[in-house]
Amino acid sequence: MSKQPSAIDRVVMFPSHWPLADALVRSLGLPVVDYTHHRFPDRESMFRINTDVSGARLLLIADLHDPDPHFLQLALLSETLRDLGATSVGLIAPYLPYMRQDKRFNTGEGISSRYFARMVSAHFDSLLTVDPHLHRYHALSEIYSIPNQLVHAAATLAAWIAKSVPDAVLIGPDQESEQWVSDVAQRADVPYETLTKQRHGDEDVQVSLPHPERWQQHTPVLVDDIISSGRTMMAAVSHLREAGLAAPLCVGVHGVFAPDAIAGILKAGAKEIVTTNTVPVETGRIDMSGAIASALRSSV
Ligand code: R5P
Repeated sequence: MSKQPSAIDRVVMFPSHWPLADALVRSLGLPVVDYTHHRFPDRESMFRINTDVSGARLLLIADLHDPDPHFLQLALLSETLRDLGATSVGLIAPYLPYMRQDKRFNTGEGISSRYFARMVSAHFDSLLTVDPHLHRYHALSEIYSIPNQLVHAAATLAAWIAKSVPDAVLIGPDQESEQWVSDVAQRADVPYETLTKQRHGDEDVQVSLPHPERWQQHTPVLVDDIISSGRTMMAAVSHLREAGLAAPLCVGVHGVFAPDAIAGILKAGAKEIVTTNTVPVETGRIDMSGAIASALRSSV
C-alpha cells in the first residue's frame, strides 16, 4: 500500500462514487466514510453518517462541476460531519467552479467568485484544487480565507501528449494561455504557438493563428484550462482547419461541457476531445489522481 498523508484519517466522497475520487482513495489507501443521502419528498436533503468520525481529520473529495444544485448538499454534508465530531473537513474540489466571474463585467452584476469563495471558506477548513482559473486573481488567497493548495496538470498533460501525440504542435487558444501552454510544450518536448482571441459574447469568439505555414506536418493539439460552452475550441478548430492544418486534438484540463459543446467541437472538425478526470465526463481519460495524491503526501 502507498504512503498515506499522515494528517488525514478518512476520506469522504461526494457523490459517494465517481472515477477520480475512487482512484484517489485507492492511491491514498485511506478508509472511506460511509454515509446515506436521504431526499425528503419536498426535495430537502439529510445526511446520515454511518462511520464514527469523532475526532477524525477528514478530506471530502467533491465533484463540483455543476455547483448550483450540489453545493448546498455539500455544505450540509460537511456541517453534519463537523457536528458529529470531525476535527477538520478539508475540501478537494478537483474542478473549482465560479472562478471566471472575477469582476463586475456589466453594471449591476455580482462578482460571484468572491461570494462562492466566502461560502466554501465558511464550511471547510482547507481547499485543494487543480489549476483553478486564475485570471484577474493571482492567488486563491485573494478570495478564499482558508488554507489552499494548487495541483498543476501540466506534467500529467505533457506526459500524456508526449506518449500519445509525438508529432504534436501545441496551440493555446489565447494569449493568456501562453504561460502554461509553453510549460506543457517544454515538458513534452514539442513546439507551441498561441492564437489571438477576441470574445464578443458568451458564444461569439474569434481567433487567428500567427504562423499556420509552420505546422502543416504536425498534429495540432489545442490545449485549454476549461472547455465550457466549447465556443473557444470550436472557433480554434475551425480556424486551424481553414488554415490547412490537420484535424486537431482538443485537450482540456476541466471538461465542463455545456450540453451541445462536445458535438459542436467535433462538428467544427476536431479529431478527438480528451480531458483530465477532474470532471466525470466521457472525455476524462487523463487521470489526475496520482498528481493529487503526491501533492497531499508532500503537504503533510
Ligand atoms: C478563458 O479565459 C479560458 O481559458 C477558456 O478559454 C474559456 O473559459 C473556455 O470557455 P468556452 O468553452 O465557454 O469558450
